[in-house]
Amino acid sequence: MSKEAGARDTSSRSRMRSQRWPWLVTTAAIALSVILLYTVRTNGPQRVGDTVFLRTDRAYVVSKRNRSVAGTGLPFAKSWGAYSPSFPRAEYTVPRMCKVTMANILERHGARFPTSGATTRIKSAVAKMQAVPAWTNEEFDFIKSFVYDLGKDDLIPFGAKESFLAGTESAQRYAHLDAPFVRASGSVRVVDSATNWTAGFVSKTGVPLPDALILPEDDGFNTTLDDSMCPTAASSDAQEAIWQDAFAPRIIARLRAFADPPESLNLTNVDVPNLMSLCSFHTLASASFDIAPSTTRSPWCKLWTAEDAAQFEYWMDLDKYYGTGYGNELGPVQGIGYVNELLARLTRTPVMDSTSTNRTLDADPATFPLDRALYADFSHDNQMIPILAAMGVLNQTHPGAMNPARLDVGRTWIASQMVPFAGRVVVEKLSCGREEKEMVRLLVNEATVQLPKPCPAADDGLCGLEAFVRSQTFARGGAPEEWARCRSSTQER
Ligand SMILES: *[C@@H]1O[C@H](CO)[C@@H](O)[C@H](O)[C@H]1NC(C)=O
Ligand SMILES: *[C@@H]1O[C@H](CO)[C@@H](O)[C@H](O)[C@H]1NC(C)=O
Ligand SMILES: *[C@@H]1O[C@H](CO)[C@@H](O)[C@H](O)[C@H]1NC(C)=O
Ligand SMILES: *[C@@H]1O[C@H](CO)[C@@H](O)[C@H](O)[C@H]1NC(C)=O
Ligand SMILES: *[C@@H]1O[C@H](CO)[C@@H](O)[C@H](O)[C@H]1NC(C)=O
Ligand SMILES: *[C@@H]1O[C@H](CO)[C@@H](O)[C@H](O)[C@H]1NC(C)=O
Repeated sequence: MSKEAGARDTSSRSRMRSQRWPWLVTTAAIALSVILLYTVRTNGPQRVGDTVFLRTDRAYVVSKRNRSVAGTGLPFAKSWGAYSPSFPRAEYTVPRMCKVTMANILERHGARFPTSGATTRIKSAVAKMQAVPAWTNEEFDFIKSFVYDLGKDDLIPFGAKESFLAGTESAQRYAHLDAPFVRASGSVRVVDSATNWTAGFVSKTGVPLPDALILPEDDGFNTTLDDSMCPTAASSDAQEAIWQDAFAPRIIARLRAFADPPESLNLTNVDVPNLMSLCSFHTLASASFDIAPSTTRSPWCKLWTAEDAAQFEYWMDLDKYYGTGYGNELGPVQGIGYVNELLARLTRTPVMDSTSTNRTLDADPATFPLDRALYADFSHDNQMIPILAAMGVLNQTHPGAMNPARLDVGRTWIASQMVPFAGRVVVEKLSCGREEKEMVRLLVNEATVQLPKPCPAADDGLCGLEAFVRSQTFARGGAPEEWARCRSSTQER
């Protein structure tokens, strides 16, 4: 059954009733529009009450030529926020009359195990589910004998494969430009992603590449690829707690109805999103690219409805928005250093920055060349988010945007579409038309993104290089007041 079939049923029923109750058709039409709008905006859920946490089997986009990592045959979920596997939001095409002359790839590490902190929280929630003496629904039968055996922090085989395939795809797209200059943030999973990506690239060109330049994540080391440079920034805990308290009680009540006795289930609100994240982690940890998708889903996925999934997704979106995004007054400033490096590469002029860059590294052509046509940097979701925010793209401006107490269906801030595992933010420089005008465009998971003024509103996302540089006033200005606040209490600690 599809969304469209459902919509037809409802409207034909409304038509039959309309002769007797004209007001009913109006009400139904309004309700239907709201549902359709919601469905379109959030790209799901398709069936409320469905036990499937994945909402995507049908909606999943596979590139026609199978060049993208999505062509791996696994129709995976898009609603897992930052725990979604990467998927293309559009088909990659180069605008007519243009050719790409330079590309700057910023990519998140591939799928990983839960972090150490998340592991503790997930295990605690699982233990509470396992403390229930009996369940009255067979979907819960697996819980008693479930053994939590996931690792921590590191890349998983699925993530290594995502990164490798992204490397082959980038080689097909950009190898004619140059050999890539590769940097990676110091976490093992990020470095492993960079090496797997590089192996994928080399598998297409046959030309060996040097190891990635690693930017340590240690205290005291300046880096533009990790969000460790602003220790005073607030976390998103407060906003997440508000939303947890709004959506989790209904879910706990439903689970309790299946627990025997009901009061044996001692789940708290914060346990709910942690337990829900297991759907992604457990599925991906055992995922092979060759197994049919229906057989690879974790049984944990079956406990959640499509409505639950949408609420979990919002929890993730709030996490990123208030964590290091626009919702945090010290969020965007954390991306300035990277944007200034990007501007240096695009204009082939030395880096001008007084925030998170390491001036020693950036002044040395061996560690920060300016004459290359292809760059690839590997980083984390929590650092890619402020980089997008420092660029001034994807801001949420409608009234009530990202209200932590109420799911904002009008939002376009959707973590799975920005920073899924192996998610990528690519800035291309292009040469367009007979005058060979230098243009720039930004692709976030293949979809072009509207750049800030004075860049024109354009469907193809193209902006003149000079206009783009001018649009980056926030990064070029360095936000000294915010940056000082980022650093202010480091001495006091
Ligand atoms: C894309 O990949 C899938 C999974 O490997 C395969 O089933 C499908 O036939 C491929 N499509 C094309 C057009 O090659
Ligand atoms: C790919 O990543 C895995 C970790 O998932 C790592 O063990 C392996 O060495 C990496 N492969 C390459 C070629 O770097
Ligand atoms: C900058 O990079 C250099 C070269 O790797 C390193 O020796 C130095 O410790 C770094 N300094 C900071 C503050 O990051
Ligand atoms: C659940 O919490 C109640 C009250 O805190 C406690 O008495 C009970 O032992 C707990 N049950 C389990 C199974 O942990
Ligand atoms: C590292 O960043 C700090 C804070 O912006 C700055 O004061 C320092 O000069 C930077 N060090 C280097 C080597 O770039
Ligand atoms: C993002 O939008 C909000 C309004 O919703 C505005 O207050 C804020 O200044 C914007 N941030 C940037 C960096 O454009």
